[in-house]
Amino acid sequence: MFDKNFLWGTASSSYQIEGAFTEDGKGVSIWDTFSNKPGNIAHNENGNEACDHYHRYREDIALMKSLSIQAYRFSISWTRIFPDGIVKDSDGNVHFNQAGLDFYDNIVNCCLENGIEPFITLYHWDLPQALEDNGGWLNRQTAYIFADYAEFICEHFSDRVVNIATINEPQIISGLGYMNGLHAPGKKLDCISVLSVIHHLALAHGLAVTRMRAVAKQPIKTGFSSTGDLCFPASECDEDIDAARAESFKIVTGNMTFNHTIFCDMTCLGRYPDIVGTGLHLEKGLEKIGHYKELPFVKDGDSELMHQPIDFLGINVYNGHEVSVTGHIKKKPGSPRTALGWPVTPGVMNYGIRYMYERYNLPIYIFEDGLACNDIISLDGKVHDSNRIDFLTRYLTDLEKAYKAGVPILGYFHWSFTDNFEWHSGYDPRFGLVFVDYETQQRIPKDSAYWYSDLIRQSCN
Ligand code: NOJ
Repeated sequence: MFDKNFLWGTASSSYQIEGAFTEDGKGVSIWDTFSNKPGNIAHNENGNEACDHYHRYREDIALMKSLSIQAYRFSISWTRIFPDGIVKDSDGNVHFNQAGLDFYDNIVNCCLENGIEPFITLYHWDLPQALEDNGGWLNRQTAYIFADYAEFICEHFSDRVVNIATINEPQIISGLGYMNGLHAPGKKLDCISVLSVIHHLALAHGLAVTRMRAVAKQPIKTGFSSTGDLCFPASECDEDIDAARAESFKIVTGNMTFNHTIFCDMTCLGRYPDIVGTGLHLEKGLEKIGHYKELPFVKDGDSELMHQPIDFLGINVYNGHEVSVTGHIKKKPGSPRTALGWPVTPGVMNYGIRYMYERYNLPIYIFEDGLACNDIISLDGKVHDSNRIDFLTRYLTDLEKAYKAGVPILGYFHWSFTDNFEWHSGYDPRFGLVFVDYETQQRIPKDSAYWYSDLIRQSCN
């Protein structure tokens, strides 16, 4: 079992649940633009209404409380508070949208009234469109504006909120947003440009950490959420364990963004990626680069700015690869997959997480984990998601092994509380513990919600 002080939460993000996309002075984000363009999202769906959390947050948080959920990880929509992204005018005066700020004050206060610990994520992909029009994450200036935004949020909320994470999944922002164009802003750029996006995100993170600590009203805890390929060994023999570790941190040519290595090494170890040693020079456009510092966007001192002490590493983990000393183990035909086609591989929660701790030596939160299903309401009016209960039992059993082996895992946030807008896949894949009927916005806790609630209550006794 996990200790009593282990934190059990659920996670969400602004664009995926809030809706109310033009309400109360909110500005346009890149996801508003992207998902309202025909052809970008499955069935041409969008997040304009989503789960209407903007109007139903009280009901949602009350439901969390009734299910004994201890922490709520949510993100702030930058454009609700700063409609065009800009925080300070040229004279240094701050202009913000009061209604947007009020919304997040209400969320935070509602969590606290219900005994739920709020965890803020500053940036979960919904960049202000006005900043994108100015180059988005390709523009170094965006990192400095992000730091202004982080400072403002921290100064305002840190009297009540201790945990404020900077950026969610820089790997997906750069890979799907700027490399293969599946996500907003839908760009398909060359490798040097994509590396510049990662670089500016790492800079944004480091600058934000420094600025937040300077204004925090109580010592905050900060970090970010990382995702990427992680491996686990086919057996407990040392050779397999070492092989899976080595594979976990490989930068794979052709899929160079989907690893923890580049972003976490830069921000947690102060180490730039090794262009030649990792094979990055095989990427088109990088052949002539000998060292990362030769890239045009790198400035002296950047490494120090991005490498700031942080308090935790958030890991978003859904699956991994089984590896033996002879290489990757091929999946057997018909082996279990989620509604998104992702393999079900609980072993990643044990060894994958151990490898992350060995390399980065930081306390860990599992900031996301969960199963996409095509859940349905049965004739009895309930949602019987036994697959999700089975998935969570397997994944948490393996996570417990890492925990018992001494990895300081502080908590687990299930993705997600309610079903929501799954980016370019739209609303078909359902990740929630709570079913959302998008016609009526009715919430129906699934069997897994009651199961998770029991688990939390047992862990606390
Ligand atoms: C990671 C992302 O942070 C979240 O937004 C997404 O919905 C889940 N993974 C599932 O794909």
